[in-house]
Amino acid sequence: MTEVTLHEPLDMHLHLRDGEMLRTVAPLSARYFSGALIMPNLVPPVTDAEGLRAYRRRILEAIGEERFEPYMTLFFKEEYDLDFLKPFASEITAVKLYPAGITTNSEGGVSGFEIERLRPALEAMSELGIPLCIHGETGGFVLDREREFVPIYEELAVAFPDLKIVMEHITDAESVAALDRHPNLYATITLHHLLITLDEVAGGMLQPHLFCKPIAKRPEDREALLKVALEAHPKVMFGSDSAPHPRHAKEAPGCAAGVFTAPIALPALAELFARHGKLENLQHFVSTNARRIYEIEPPAKKVRLVDRPMKVPEKYGEVVPMMAGEQIGWSVAEIIQE
Ligand code: NCD
Ligand code: ZN
Repeated sequence: MTEVTLHEPLDMHLHLRDGEMLRTVAPLSARYFSGALIMPNLVPPVTDAEGLRAYRRRILEAIGEERFEPYMTLFFKEEYDLDFLKPFASEITAVKLYPAGITTNSEGGVSGFEIERLRPALEAMSELGIPLCIHGETGGFVLDREREFVPIYEELAVAFPDLKIVMEHITDAESVAALDRHPNLYATITLHHLLITLDEVAGGMLQPHLFCKPIAKRPEDREALLKVALEAHPKVMFGSDSAPHPRHAKEAPGCAAGVFTAPIALPALAELFARHGKLENLQHFVSTNARRIYEIEPPAKKVRLVDRPMKVPEKYGEVVPMMAGEQIGWSVAEIIQE
């Protein structure tokens, strides 16, 4: 039997929602991960100290006894400045920027990327050492949206050299290439974008549970993502972008965007890395890189995975996970919290 023990696994891009959904999904992440970067696209979004603190408390309540750190993010607003951010800077792990209307609950996002408009907020963040996470898609043709956004990432990286910029859930070979051109550009990669292309989403019968933003791209894009994930490129981190929607919102005309992967992520990643003979790099991809980039000290937790198959449940509450009803070749054998 082959096995791997991951120390302090981290999910650096996670949607936990609120209310009943939060209570359903938060324990599933808290069980297997030491911490996660929590996305702020609630309705209304998390935009101030009070909202951030209250959301963190609701998350901690939802996870009960598990030892798990919710690393909180604020929803980017152009109005943010040093006076506003400074008093609670130590509680903000990152600020997440959404182009307006580009994805689920992003209506209050940014509608233009002129540097001068963004300067006060981004200079304040640079000074306070708060990283900027970006959902990098333009309003262009759906397969080109991320590629078209790469020059904006690069412009921001040059204009704000002291700001750490994380290209979230990258899906395009062009984003991968940009990583090595700027010292302050980083990226998260999801599980699903390492596994699927547009073919799995729409090449046969339409698969609503694989539909997400950014949409999965071409085989050569997936290859580029796989390469940097498997080699544990030091600027790449695992971020599931696990984004639960109730089944009725997915299996519907007007399918909501988001793939739910949190409870299957570690076994599926272990299987993927093992298949490529790269198990020894998984620790860097799911923890070490993120700890260094975000300068965080997550709570101690070890997760031992073995190549013993598990069957993915059909549903968690009202949410259908990726690979529902299918088998994954690996499973969690033990969780050690000392
Ligand atoms: C996310 C969601 O549902 O909140 N959806 C998605 O398709 N990834 C938002 C996001 O990260 O784009
Ligand atoms: Zn997301």
